[in-house]
Amino acid sequence: MKATAIAPANIAFIKYWGKKDDVLRIPLNESFSMNIDGATTTTTVEFSDVFTHDGVSFIGETIQEKEIWRITKHLDKIRHLANKKLFARVITKNSFPKGTGIASSASGFAALTVAAVQAIGLRLSEKELTILARLGSGSACRSIPNGFVIWHEGETSDTSFAESLYPSTYWNLHDIVVLVSRDAKKISTTIGMEGISTSPYWQKRMKYIPGRILRTKQAFQEKNFQKLGEVIEEDCLDMHHVMQTQSPPLYYWNEITKNIMQSVTNWREQGLPVYFTIDAGPNMHCICEGKDEAKVMTALKTVQGVQSIIQNKVARGAYCINNHLF
Ligand code: DP6
Repeated sequence: MKATAIAPANIAFIKYWGKKDDVLRIPLNESFSMNIDGATTTTTVEFSDVFTHDGVSFIGETIQEKEIWRITKHLDKIRHLANKKLFARVITKNSFPKGTGIASSASGFAALTVAAVQAIGLRLSEKELTILARLGSGSACRSIPNGFVIWHEGETSDTSFAESLYPSTYWNLHDIVVLVSRDAKKISTTIGMEGISTSPYWQKRMKYIPGRILRTKQAFQEKNFQKLGEVIEEDCLDMHHVMQTQSPPLYYWNEITKNIMQSVTNWREQGLPVYFTIDAGPNMHCICEGKDEAKVMTALKTVQGVQSIIQNKVARGAYCINNHLF
């Protein structure tokens, strides 16, 4: 009873920040993302009656007690669904540093869900897999369907699921992730978004989201990159405005992040179509069309303080592979 899954991280164009149900991870708003192929998690899960406890480890990275607890709780849900009392061995490998603003919990819980469900012998639909992954980490539900994905906020667990709006082949968009810090973030997204209602601006954000989702959908229909880029940056800045006006405030950017934001704006004024977005960390995502990637890479070489760059194309969602990690 062993299975291995690989799942991409995803970058949200319209962001998820805040929950209406903390336990079920039902978000306050609909969100929209793109799966990215250069930042993936591979996870092998084995269930066996020989094991006397769950064993969880990450290859090449340390793991904290609270992460083990969260993974074990997720396994409990899968054991409960399958009605099996078996302990598991879980080994995970990330292709990028976790906790730095690249969605490691998204790819992590997507890979864990798909591998564990397969290993325990459950047969679930893609929609059911997204609902299960969401219970581990909200944004993980968006790493299961193919390509460009919408997460319907829903009102109940069964209605809060993700689905592909367009396959990965639909639009050759690139996400150039610029790593400016490898430090793990001090405040996790789960804890951070618990404070959303302390921001005087959160309700205003909610009012704008449906219009932004609509504009995103129109931009995709027309493959209008400028329209898409404008709404991506608007929503990123809006989410960070809410974060920064929460009590206590959350500042995820550092000086290099701010320099790149300014540079991206300058490059655009000079005719290079590129837009930025940032999750809960200082690292920058530069979004462009495939035809402009080389020019964006050249421009990024002039920026001081960049530690490394991960070039991403659009990825398919999570899937099982036959090469196990143990
Ligand atoms: C800023 O999915 O990590 O990246 O559901 O509490 O695990 P939990 O939160 P998580 O939040 C991601 C927030 C974000 C924006 C986004 O990806 O939409």
